[in-house]
Amino acid sequence: MNALTILGLETSCDETAAAVVRLDGGRATVLSSVVRGQAEAHAPFGGVAPEVAARAHVEVIDGTARRALADAGITVSELDGIAATAGPGLIGGVMVGLAFGKAMALAAGKPLIAVNHLEGHAVSARLDSDIPYPFLLLLVSGGHCQLLEVEGVGAAKRLGATLDDAAGEAFDKIGRALGLDFPGGPALERAAQGGDPKRFALPKSLAGRDGCDFSFSGLKTAAARAAMKISNAIDRRDLAAAVQLAIATQLADRTAVAMRTYARHHAQRRFVVAGGVAANQAVRTALIAECEAAAFEFFAPPLAYCTDNAAMIALAGAERLMLGLTSPLNVSARPRWPLDEAAATDAPMHKTAGRKGAKA
Ligand code: KG4
Ligand code: ZN
Repeated sequence: MNALTILGLETSCDETAAAVVRLDGGRATVLSSVVRGQAEAHAPFGGVAPEVAARAHVEVIDGTARRALADAGITVSELDGIAATAGPGLIGGVMVGLAFGKAMALAAGKPLIAVNHLEGHAVSARLDSDIPYPFLLLLVSGGHCQLLEVEGVGAAKRLGATLDDAAGEAFDKIGRALGLDFPGGPALERAAQGGDPKRFALPKSLAGRDGCDFSFSGLKTAAARAAMKISNAIDRRDLAAAVQLAIATQLADRTAVAMRTYARHHAQRRFVVAGGVAANQAVRTALIAECEAAAFEFFAPPLAYCTDNAAMIALAGAERLMLGLTSPLNVSARPRWPLDEAAATDAPMHKTAGRKGAKA
């Protein structure tokens, strides 16, 4: 197959998204990308309420998919396949998108490709840049924080992951302690503008240690404690700047360790950062500095493809379909689905139940 046109569907968290992507000669073109957020529905809860999310996906998934096809100017019969996120994520939402994808695939007689949401983030930077495999990936979002060697389609080896919260989760929880809107990441980035990051001393968790794991719980506690003592807008701005720098510094420090490991057995040094937190400018700046120091080429998706979207799911689906990797119509939705299944089984980051651990 030379060129493939794929409809992608994404419903694993609080965005209902559909997109049409064309993959031709290894280069992707986004023909349409529609993302419908649910921020208003979740605002009263201060976070994502799973049942509310699932219901909101049901209400808009068909209209969102129709809109993506219309924006791309194509009909269902012109598609080569339908790719839907099958996990990991909030199971009610995942089931909505996957069931909708199955129904479309069945009705139109097209192949279904069940996509791992993390694989979507992993290929997101390939939506607008030519980034050959393999590459070192830092995946940082609301539910995930991990470093992976990505060797090819469906082939990733985990070098490290968070021991507690994901980086985006840390932004969100600290943002809440600072009285900022949800999601806390973008709100905290705005609040930190012009701030002095050195005024508040925050813990440098795991800095300088071997290994590539992350930890944000100490930072979260220290920031929440400092937030209780601040009394004016300047304090809040400076504390936000200190938190942002602490998260960016930890991400860069752990990435530097991963780069040394990666460079030992890879001749081409390519580094990709993806996920919602990759939208953060301070995070990008810190990672670019590490790339320069270690002679890695730096890649990040355009801002619109950092946070959850369906274009990345369509591209991951297209890459799979190119290799003949399709899914049966009875494929299951998975709340937990690590990219590197072997590492997750050998060394689970969290032995107790929990959303982040299972995803890591
Ligand atoms: O990738 P994503 O949309 O969803 C998951 O798969 O989790 O990431 C959402 C996360 C949220 O925690 C949000 O606060 C964070 O990404 N985020 C940011 C920024 N934009 C989104 N964090 C820091 N700075 C930003 N500009
Ligand atoms: Zn995501």
